[in-house]
Amino acid sequence: MTNRQFDGQSDTMAAQIRTEETPMQASPAALPLAPVVPLVSMSGISKNFGAVRALTGVDLEVYPGEVVALVGDNGAGKSTLVKILAGVFKPDAGSITFAGTPVSIGNPAEAHDLGIATVFQDLALCDNLDVVSNLWLGRELAVRGVLDHVEMETRSWALLRELSVRIPSVRARVATLSGGQRQTVAIARSLIGEPSVVILDEPTAALGVAAAAEVLNLIERLRERGLGVIVISHNITDVQAVSDRIVVLRLGRNNGHFRTDEVTNEIVISAITGASVYSR
Ligand SMILES: Nc1ncnc2c1ncn2[C@@H]1O[C@H](COP(=O)(O)OP(=O)(O)OP(=O)(O)O)[C@@H](O)[C@H]1O
Ligand SMILES: [Mg+2]
Repeated sequence: MTNRQFDGQSDTMAAQIRTEETPMQASPAALPLAPVVPLVSMSGISKNFGAVRALTGVDLEVYPGEVVALVGDNGAGKSTLVKILAGVFKPDAGSITFAGTPVSIGNPAEAHDLGIATVFQDLALCDNLDVVSNLWLGRELAVRGVLDHVEMETRSWALLRELSVRIPSVRARVATLSGGQRQTVAIARSLIGEPSVVILDEPTAALGVAAAAEVLNLIERLRERGLGVIVISHNITDVQAVSDRIVVLRLGRNNGHFRTDEVTNEIVISAITGASVYSR
């Protein structure tokens, strides 16, 4: 499966392969005798911005080695929910556990320290710096106060190779990279701190077909590393190709919680639009 490319038509096969390869994580509900503690469990999360009720009693869980797609229409509350997990916003109500332990995530540094990495849509890369510098920005390796360029470059190559990322050179300036390559650098950068949960907000939104396929393959690599991945996407084909579970938000509330291999696009879309109403 290492070189499997997503073409938007192999969704069923992808779901089958996933189920065979990750039986422990694929369905906590279907494996009551093999309990796995969620990496992250958000429960009853509410958040208001003044009079705007952005989130009301929302639940979200992600397990090790699992990709959860968070979907919903514009303004449904997706970004607000993951920003709470990333320490950007504090919830007005609800609780969060990390690896089974209740936590309070007061700011982005605390999220990072817990092992929660976020790739926001604007990527926050420095165009004028090369790939190595971007990967290690703010976490540079040094020996006796001198930057260890050789070690950082060696580790950068190792990480990108492990992720099967195709970059012409780790010394290329990020400004010279394509949109897809920039996205993969941003995702690789999030892994430098060895997180256990990675949040990706619209990772394929601005990408062409081939670049999006590369990013979806990269998400597969994250799952293979045992990470919990939360992906926000409006692209149902991408969601079907890459996720194990789909969590739908509508008007700031949960409206459906599906196993990807058991649900059709039509059902997911009807949950997003509100044509169907689900209790969870
Ligand atoms: N910082 C903020 N201040 C005030 N209101 C906000 C803020 N952030 C989000 N909101 C409001 O909260 C609601 C949910 O917004 P959010 O950005 O979470 O939606 P979303 O599902 O990510 O939408 P999109 O798909 O368009 O990115 C919206 O009504 C939005 O206007
Ligand atoms: Mg958003």
